[in-house]
Formats: sequence, structure tokens, C-alpha cells
Amino acid sequence: MQIDKFKIEEWMNKYECHAKYDMTTTCIKSFSLKEFFEFTNSNIDSILNKSLDYGDITGSSRLKTNAAKLYKNKNENNISITLGAIGANSLVFTTLLEKNDEVVSIIPTYQQHYSIPKQLGCNVKIIKLKPELKWHIDFEELDKNVTSRTKLITLNNPNNPTGAILSEQELLNIVEIARKNDAYILCDEVYRFLNHDKDSCIVSIADIYEKGISTFSMSKTFSLAGIRIGFIVAEQNLIQEFNHQRQYNTISISAIDDYIACIALENKEKIISRNTDIILKGKEILTEWVKGESKIDLIEPEAGTTAFVSYKKNINSYRFCLDLYKKTGVLLLPGDAMEIPNHCRVGYCGNIDVFKEGLNEFSKWLITI
Ligand SMILES: Cc1ncc(COP(=O)(O)O)c(C=O)c1O
Repeated sequence: MQIDKFKIEEWMNKYECHAKYDMTTTCIKSFSLKEFFEFTNSNIDSILNKSLDYGDITGSSRLKTNAAKLYKNKNENNISITLGAIGANSLVFTTLLEKNDEVVSIIPTYQQHYSIPKQLGCNVKIIKLKPELKWHIDFEELDKNVTSRTKLITLNNPNNPTGAILSEQELLNIVEIARKNDAYILCDEVYRFLNHDKDSCIVSIADIYEKGISTFSMSKTFSLAGIRIGFIVAEQNLIQEFNHQRQYNTISISAIDDYIACIALENKEKIISRNTDIILKGKEILTEWVKGESKIDLIEPEAGTTAFVSYKKNINSYRFCLDLYKKTGVLLLPGDAMEIPNHCRVGYCGNIDVFKEGLNEFSKWLITI
């Protein structure tokens, strides 16, 4: 079966490992194994006694129970453990969708959300978030496009790359549109709990809609992309369907990863507080830099680890990013890799010193164009 090239992953695979200034990563400074065990005051020796068998086939009860605690009134029967959020999203699409189903995908987003449905033969309708609405949804447009033939609405909240958060009321507006058409909503929530304003909260679709499906992982919020643990949260009957399909592509996740994820979830507040500090520092550096750059604009992100800057020059974003990369070693992600021209994704939560130097190089290059 044909599938479109995954543009973000193609770009990152080609340049990320060699970039002098990787300024588009979505991860927050990752832990080493040693740092992680020290930070959570856990005993690293306990990992040495883990048996290297398949482990608990559907994930340990401890992991599923800890995951369920991130939602309202959920228990381990509402959780399906997967290989990252990428595995979670993929499992949702391959379980629910059939040829000719209608899918409404809200972009920019992670490309899985439109390319896998397209590969499965679905009729995919694209709705763009609007910069003039600060990267929020035009509900009239959504309402017009969702029909009784729509099986699934799919979105990402908080949004990668814009960092916009849909409020509870906005999510309820989407639920109203979905419910009257009996459609599922898949919300990819991998940047949940990374709200920049400590007092705001990011509501999960699984908590407000009976046909709401949430996907999440340990990669971003918990800085543990290397353990490849994600999960789906939904009503129990749906989880059973996902688990039925899951037997064909997962068997189990690593018992070691499962164990580390349990420790992380049990230290949620501490890890999120560490990560929020890193995010806020990076964001301040970025927003101050943008103020001094007449060729760059930014709608400030409200959550997550990335920002979507626009530039005032009429060139394709691949050309813009490639020239910048070749001349300076600064790596950004072209907006066109996410179907939005004249923009680039900046990730500001990696190494702060590298980020500051990279912005300096970016400034020097901007003068030349
Ligand atoms: C919106 C979104 N969903 C899913 C993923 C995949 O993440 P994971 O590492 O959990 O598979 C990413 C990774 O960047 C992402 O940004």
C-alpha cells in the first residue's frame, strides 16, 4: 500500500544528528538513566533484577493504573499501552478506519493524522488552524465540513508546532459537532501538562466525550522519548477493540520501559516542575530574540515545547531552512513539512547554551537575506 513520505521525519532523519544547533527538537532536555534514578530517588539496582521476557503482555497493572490517574474516572480497563504515541495513533487509525470512511483532520499536526487515513483509502478533509485566530479553530468551517459520513475528527492539543491550547469550551464545541454526527474524536495530547501558565489546565478529550479517544506518551511531558511508551485512553469497549488489533503489531512493550514509566508517573509533579522551568527559560529567550528581529514574527505559544515563527520573505520554507542550515548549522523545521508555508518550527527546550548561540547565528544570517 502506498503512503506519503512522512515529511517531518524525513527532514529530521537527514539533518538532526549532524546539526551544530538543533533548534527544532520537540523534546525537553532528556534524562540519562542515571540522572533519572537520582532525580526520582529510586533504586537503580532494582532494574538489574528485571527478567528479560515479554513481561506483562498488555503492560503492567501498575503502569495502566498510573496512566489512568491522569484522567477523570478512568481505570486500567480504559488504557491500551503502545509503542509511543506514534504507535497509539497508528493503532487507533488501523482499528477504526475502513476504505471510504470520511476523516476530518485539523492541521498543522503530526502527519500520521492525515497520511495514515489517506493510506487506508479514507476521504480526508483538511481544516487549517488560522494564524489570524492565533492558531485556533474556525468552528463554522469545522461544522460545515463534518457530516453524517464523518467517522473521525482528529487533532492535536496542545498543538505541535504552534503551542496553542484549545480551551475546554473550544473542545466542547468540537464535541457538539462530533456528537450530532456520531463521529469519534481522536485528540493527540502528547504535550499535555506542559501549559506555560501554571494556573491554566489542558482538558483531555477522553474526559469530556464518550466517543473521545486520547493518545499520550512519556516522550515530551516526562522527557523520556527513549523508553518508547505511549497509551490510548478511551471507553472500555473501544479499548478492547484496540487491544484486539494490537496483538498483531505489538505483543508487549519492554518490561524495563514499563518500569521506568511507572516511576516517572509516580513522580509526575517533580518532573513536570523541572520541565516547566526549562520551557519557560527557553521561551523567554526566544520571545526576547523575536522582539529584536524585524524579519520574524511569532504568535506566542501557550504550551508545549515548540513555536511556529513566520518570516517576511517570499521564499519556500524548505529553501529558507536549508540555506540557514548550510551556512550556519542552525536546524529549524520548514513549515511546508507541516503543510504551512512561510513558517518554521523552533524547538526551544533542548540545550539552552546551544539555543542562545544558534539564535545569534540565525540573526547574522537574517541580515544577509
Ligand atoms: C503531536 C505528536 N504526536 C506524536 C508524536 C510521537 O511521539 P512518541 O515519541 O510518543 O511516539 C510526536 C513526536 O514528535 C508529536 O509531536
